[in-house]
Amino acid sequence: MALHSCRRRILLRVLAVIIAIISTIFLAARLYKEMRSGPNPYPRKRHDFQESADIQEWADFHNERLDSKGRRRSILVIAHGRSGSTITGEIFNHHPSVFYLHEPLQTVERISKQNGSNKDRYASLMINILSNILRCNFSQAVLEDFDNFYREPSHSRASCAIGSPPLCPHEMTDPKWDLKLCLPLTNKSLGTTCRNKYAVTVAKILMSRIAGNDIKNILQACRKSKSNCQIIFLIKDPRAVIPSSHSVGFPIDRGSRLSKDGLRLFSYQNCKQTEDNLVFLKNLPLSWRRRILVQRYEDFAVNPLKVMSRLYDFAGLPVLDHVKIWLNESTHPSKKREDMLIEGSPDFFMMDDASATANRWRCKVHPHDIDIIEHYCKHVMQIMGYIPINNDEDLMADVTTPLFSEDYEAKKWFPN
Ligand SMILES: *[C@@H]1O[C@H](CO)[C@@H](O)[C@H](O)[C@H]1NC(C)=O
Ligand SMILES: *[C@@H]1O[C@H](CO)[C@@H](O)[C@H](O)[C@H]1NC(C)=O
Ligand SMILES: *[C@@H]1O[C@H](CO)[C@@H](O)[C@H](O)[C@H]1NC(C)=O
Ligand SMILES: *[C@@H]1O[C@H](CO)[C@@H](O)[C@H](O)[C@H]1NC(C)=O
Repeated sequence: MALHSCRRRILLRVLAVIIAIISTIFLAARLYKEMRSGPNPYPRKRHDFQESADIQEWADFHNERLDSKGRRRSILVIAHGRSGSTITGEIFNHHPSVFYLHEPLQTVERISKQNGSNKDRYASLMINILSNILRCNFSQAVLEDFDNFYREPSHSRASCAIGSPPLCPHEMTDPKWDLKLCLPLTNKSLGTTCRNKYAVTVAKILMSRIAGNDIKNILQACRKSKSNCQIIFLIKDPRAVIPSSHSVGFPIDRGSRLSKDGLRLFSYQNCKQTEDNLVFLKNLPLSWRRRILVQRYEDFAVNPLKVMSRLYDFAGLPVLDHVKIWLNESTHPSKKREDMLIEGSPDFFMMDDASATANRWRCKVHPHDIDIIEHYCKHVMQIMGYIPINNDEDLMADVTTPLFSEDYEAKKWFPN
């Protein structure tokens, strides 16, 4: 009997030891896996604005063109038009490690038109062209379009990478820089430059140009390109975006109304696209959700430098002093509005007092129009923390009360 109980005790002890060993191995394996899986987005270190980028850290990062699986990295900035995507794109365009492309899907649209547009073919054409661009492989049609678009004088600064050495003899900041001196683009010159000089490709993509307005098709292009893609999904209050969108017509002053049916349809479509894509991203596995960053324009407007750090941190890029200075000047301009155009093209209107633009709609948009937008955008506004006015005239007029809350549901959906 005593022997039996002793044996049992020994057995129990052995069992406890085995469990302890297994748990230790399991924990160690997890730790090892986490360490191996490269830069873990959390715990995330916060950048201090006072701290300037360490030159060595910068040089080390610069050499790290591929991730641990040998894939090139890409970051796609996705937004509806008039949601702050130009300034967000410019933040990346100003970084010397970034091969920046301003709206490569415009290239896809133009090529698609030349070849006879067709909705079904557009999706496969878009996936095909974008995936090749993300691997620095440029077809003749794409090169010709880049030559026409990025090297048209008013758009010549849309991609710093395409205007810089070795593709052009001088840096764009050099007074000697002249578009006419730049060499014609070839698959070899652009491909080699893209691959060897730049750690990451960043592209601005407007929702309206994505096949089916569906981010799933962008992920298809990522998969096909075998690049390590990250997505920045920019969202702005629909009450600011919708009335200023070209397809609705700009309001002239507060007394004028927008076309009611157009506004209804546009509000419905615009907010449905935002919501459908947010929900699609929310339901992706965690490994993918880590590669998604949802950024509200209003938070950028309140503190552009802080958001720039957040974006660079997500992109794995060091914050550089010259970019900080450029952004600070661009978002707190001392210049007149007319002087704030980039190289004269109204399409590139960008530099603006960021915090003023976040509120401008409240004095400009007719209350009935706001009511319509709030009706069709109710749910996505709630997910994104935009506070409805619900016809409250006092709230509408009191611009000191922000209409976006700090916390919102979609914030909890993504680890970044
Ligand atoms: C456009 O169509 C032509 C002929 O139909 C084809 O050879 C070419 O590859 C197409 N271009 C693209 C970019 O698909
Ligand atoms: C580059 O793109 C072309 C089509 O434009 C394709 O035929 C070729 O296989 C691609 N090369 C690589 C290495 O991806
Ligand atoms: C561009 O060049 C790369 C190799 O440098 C090649 O793999 C690719 O097929 C070329 N693409 C086209 C469209 O010619
Ligand atoms: C931004 O610019 C303002 C002047 O326009 C200056 O007072 C402020 O210190 C700058 N901030 C940073 C972080 O550079």
